[in-house]
Amino acid sequence: VADEGVPLERLVRHPAEPLAEGPPRHPRVKPPPALFGTRRNSRGVEFGEAASLAALVAERDAAPPLPPAPRDATEGEAALEVARAQSAFRAWNATPVARRAAILRRAADLLEERRGAFIAAIQDEGFRTLDDALSELREAVDFCRYYAEEAERVMAPVALPGPVGESDRLTLHGRGVFLCIAPWNFPLAIFLGQVAAALVAGNAVVAKPAPQTPRIGALAIAALHDAGVPREACRLVPGGPETGAALVAHPAIAGVAFTGSTATARSIHRALAAKDGPIVPLIAETGGLNPMIVDATALPEQVTDDVLTSAFRSAGQRCSALRLLCLQEDAAERMLAMIAGACAELKLGDPRDPATHVGPLIDAAAKARIMRWLARLPPGAREIFRHPAPEPGNFLAPRIVALQRPEDLTQEVFGPVLHVVRWRADGLDGLLRSLAASGYSLTLGVQSRRAGFAARVAAAVPGGNVYVNRNMVGAVVGTQPFGGEGLSGTGPKAGGPHYLLRFVSERVVSINT
Ligand code: NAD
Ligand code: ALA
Repeated sequence: VADEGVPLERLVRHPAEPLAEGPPRHPRVKPPPALFGTRRNSRGVEFGEAASLAALVAERDAAPPLPPAPRDATEGEAALEVARAQSAFRAWNATPVARRAAILRRAADLLEERRGAFIAAIQDEGFRTLDDALSELREAVDFCRYYAEEAERVMAPVALPGPVGESDRLTLHGRGVFLCIAPWNFPLAIFLGQVAAALVAGNAVVAKPAPQTPRIGALAIAALHDAGVPREACRLVPGGPETGAALVAHPAIAGVAFTGSTATARSIHRALAAKDGPIVPLIAETGGLNPMIVDATALPEQVTDDVLTSAFRSAGQRCSALRLLCLQEDAAERMLAMIAGACAELKLGDPRDPATHVGPLIDAAAKARIMRWLARLPPGAREIFRHPAPEPGNFLAPRIVALQRPEDLTQEVFGPVLHVVRWRADGLDGLLRSLAASGYSLTLGVQSRRAGFAARVAAAVPGGNVYVNRNMVGAVVGTQPFGGEGLSGTGPKAGGPHYLLRFVSERVVSINT
């Protein structure tokens, strides 16, 4: 990329609406953050001691190499682990909530103490950039501290008003053995967040990490055990879909917390419904087609920054990532030019290099899925920009794909592919109806300087998390509780004040005194 900007030939022109000028060089592409410890976590606690980037990288590089990945559990081994967890449930559920919370806080401390090892694991097994690895570790710490605090608040017995001479008391309890199934794209934060919530609510846990990231899962469970969670009360069961399905089918599972694709959530939902015995609740947090609606009053520099972060951070491998950018026609050409110009400045490369913005995809299968989508784009759709970097191995250069209609985005394209549609003022209602009709409701972005525009959009398009004039990723625990509805999930908000209630059963005892 020349200093004066991205060469025009890198842009595939729209024949009907040619770019008026070359994409300006966007001055605001930032290098990944160079400091760790200057931000506070969601509870206002300094995240570890302030450390320079160099010190952090040194800690990471001093971490021992990852052990070999554990073998997938057989069905018999998985059943044995459920039985072990079941044997530990009563005692753990009877442990005072203050003690369980203290153990979780200790686990948070251990994550911070072991940050070099965790960052190395997230980068080497999950292929995340340094920036992503740091924020993921921070989020995992936040989850532990937040759920510890929330448990002490939420799990406290409630004395209810009743007739004279009667005591009525509501108490909350763990349900039994909770099965936690995690995706690979947040191999620490989501994996540990689910497990921490289930444990602090009094459940025993069987945790199945994604098959791509079992060693990060093993490190996380080791930290919980070292912090004081009884070994039998929290069991790691590595494996893929078959292992997950066998665990779901196990009769002793009392609840399932699942984060992953909508298709897998459906399959788990069906399997649970087909089971005899108690009705088993499912918490499902799934994917989205996440739109951002931008009107002509939005600030182009801010839109550019926010689109870049939302669409291409983590190589687009976030459930929250921007998938469909909806630009008002009047401003579309200029904004697209700025976005393309800025995107071309992103550095693709080794995720361990602190200067890298975009690393590789998780595996060859992930790249193949996206290439299949790109090879068979809907009629009238075309790629209008591709980052100039080469694409060896599992790398995929960020792309912008123009679609004719919002309905043309028919699947979650889980990578650095930004789809764009244009809308005219007299077509806004139709656009919003189309977006609402997708059935997904995870993140929704709005960029506008007009009073009332964001409220109009948010009223018409359901979004589990609505972000106005900012980027759409990186929800902060306790500040932006995260989760979607409809095809995007069963509605709970991870990192929110009601989340733990999904993991408990409630009982009322009425005593005639
Ligand atoms: P996935 O659905 O393929 O797998 C998720 C987990 O489910 C893995 O551990 C997998 O082994 C397991 N699994 C697969 N089939 C199973 C079955 N039949 N029974 C039980 N377990 C089974 O998803 P993925 O590719 O690992 O993750 C990416 C997906 O996760 C994307 O769709 C993304 O949007 C979604 N996601 C959602 C959120 C959220 O909070 N809403 C967060 C992160 C990722
Ligand atoms: N909670 C994650 C985010 O907001 C998925 O990006």
